Amino acid sequence: MSIPSLKDLLSEGVSGRGVLVRSDLNVPLDFDTGEITDPGRIAASVPTLKGLIEAGARVVVAAHLGRPKDGPDPKLSLAPVAAALAEQLGRHVQLAGDVVGADALARAEGLTDGDILLLENVRFDPRETSKDDGERLALARQLAELVGPTGAFVSDGFGVVHRKQASVYDIATLLPHYAGTLVAEEIRVLEQLTSSTTRPYAVVLGGSKVSDKLGVIESLATRADSIVIGGGMCFTFLAAQGLSVGKSLLETEMVDTCRRLLDTYVDVLRLPMDIVVAEKFAADSPPHTVPVDAIPGDLIGLDIGPGSVERFAALLSNAETIFWNGPMGVFEFPAFAAGTKGVADAIAAATGKGAFSVVGGGDSAAAVRALGIPEGDFSHISTGGGASLEYLEGKTLPGIEVLGRPQPSGGDA
Ligand code: 3PG
Repeated sequence: MSIPSLKDLLSEGVSGRGVLVRSDLNVPLDFDTGEITDPGRIAASVPTLKGLIEAGARVVVAAHLGRPKDGPDPKLSLAPVAAALAEQLGRHVQLAGDVVGADALARAEGLTDGDILLLENVRFDPRETSKDDGERLALARQLAELVGPTGAFVSDGFGVVHRKQASVYDIATLLPHYAGTLVAEEIRVLEQLTSSTTRPYAVVLGGSKVSDKLGVIESLATRADSIVIGGGMCFTFLAAQGLSVGKSLLETEMVDTCRRLLDTYVDVLRLPMDIVVAEKFAADSPPHTVPVDAIPGDLIGLDIGPGSVERFAALLSNAETIFWNGPMGVFEFPAFAAGTKGVADAIAAATGKGAFSVVGGGDSAAAVRALGIPEGDFSHISTGGGASLEYLEGKTLPGIEVLGRPQPSGGDA
């Protein structure tokens, strides 16, 4: 599939043209202080935006924050993101008061070459995520209007390309479309991970839910040499082995599935041997390490233990290809961060010896930065958790598939 690139658009010329960019600026926020706790996705969005601004485009950015339920929610305004983006770009970023309403339209019409306008949270318009094709297309048409008849669309929000949404998918059926530098780089890396995998191939999966990772486990179990499992999801696997997990996270309805996976992929799946437990889910709850077969009934598992880190690190030290998605424990609490840090350090060390390593997704990428591990210690840190998992599962990602289609004819918008 050949996808037109930002370079193609720039060589066509963008000076004086409106360009709608879909970025993924969905960053974690501290709602009490309004502080952005991990601005990684904003930094990753800058190169495409800079390239367009410097070439004289009139840039309109569509992005979402969180999952607003019933229209505009002031808590999910992109205002803090606009300020952070302005700081990173070193120039003023206007924020529209709406998505495609009177304010957005007036501001878009007032843009001059090299200006940038951020639309308010695109999910404030319920048509963005509608299952109704007509509703989504109607919003996409209004987004297209913002960039006028010579407008173009640049898809740069890798974290949302697995969503069939108006500003991700439908808009590309209306405007000439191009992959931004971030999307192009993410696709290049994931293609490398799937097509030219050097063995041994180790996959590290964490995070809270087995149900989120089921697809990727099923699809990678036959391709990877080992799949290391930690994080909240490991307790459902431990329960499937007949172990008691105390008050730890447990997806009861997934226990049978985990038992089947353990039976089928006995040589591939690797579980922790010890767990760090505490009385409650709290940063100051004193940590204790116990073997997996001795988790007390009244305690909750919040991290993998040091024995597990050692065992996983030994396995990772031999790997030539590594994909990691999901923290090993509650890394946000320092007392329960050692598992995630230990595994991240082991992946970084393997990378230093020549392994190809990809960190997939929001939480694991945030963990790398929060734990102070240099991002350059990994081959690639993806900005998309769900998107990279779905890519590895072999699913068609609507926001990528649509970019490979012929360019729409002038009348489509
Ligand atoms: C993410 O955070 O993974 C992306 O921004 C997509 O967000 P969503 O899962 O709410 O669609």
